Amino acid sequence: MAGLTHPNLIILSGAGLSAESGVATFREADGLWEGHRIEDVATPEAFRRDPALVQQFYNLRRAQLKNVQANAAHHALVELEKNWPGSFWHITQNVDDLNERAGAKKLLHMHGELRKVRCTWCKSVLAWSDDLQTDTDCPECDHRGTLRPDIVWFGEMPYYIDEIMRALETVDIFLCIGTSGVVYPAAGFVRLAAEKGCARLIEVNLQPTGISGQFTEQRQGLAGIEVPKLVAELLQPYNA
Ligand code: OAD
Repeated sequence: MAGLTHPNLIILSGAGLSAESGVATFREADGLWEGHRIEDVATPEAFRRDPALVQQFYNLRRAQLKNVQANAAHHALVELEKNWPGSFWHITQNVDDLNERAGAKKLLHMHGELRKVRCTWCKSVLAWSDDLQTDTDCPECDHRGTLRPDIVWFGEMPYYIDEIMRALETVDIFLCIGTSGVVYPAAGFVRLAAEKGCARLIEVNLQPTGISGQFTEQRQGLAGIEVPKLVAELLQPYNA
């Protein structure tokens, strides 16, 4: 019977969610990511051409995680996850672990994770918090130099696409936080959600993006301020 079901919620987050924690976003005004062109550090071709540079780049990003903390937006999203009565999925393009550190459980890292590495020989995926070198041995199969960051690079297939497509079939509220909307397939999820009948499409960003016109609501400002406000609004009908 209509009216008895609880709305299904999907969150799509991007680098803007972690910006106030001190993790650099990808597309700063100069088009560089921590001083590098994305094509030089985030493609399979770059890894084949200069594996040492790519390993060093991700070693620095992994090391940087030791000096940052979850911010108010990460914590608010965990509050939402814990109290949301319908189905809940947080799809993140971020490779940091700040959502998990805030307590997130229903999280899909569609672009991989900095704190994991993958063996190109035996396919094992391993938790990793130290530096990775081009001659590091895989602890599972003992092959030398076969470990790479478990990051989805440009030209590679994002993770969890089947699960995401299934969740988008029945989404009622789609909330997009801190993403520039230029990298597909993630940038196309709002359109897919709308096509499936999702009536509430909310974008939180510091500024308008190339996909802003596809949302039904805009919250312009810092994620650390706008997300907690929005979470309080979304949970308000369920508070006794
Ligand atoms: P971008 O760096 O492209 O965009 C960050 C977005 O966050 C921009 O739209 C900013 O306006 C917004 N923003 C910045 N600070 C904010 C804040 N404090 N509060 C709210 N919004 C803020 O990052 P993504 O869209 O996440 O892919 O990038 C998508 C993908 O491109 C990444 O996952 C990565 C990258 O190349 C791979 O590595 C495969």
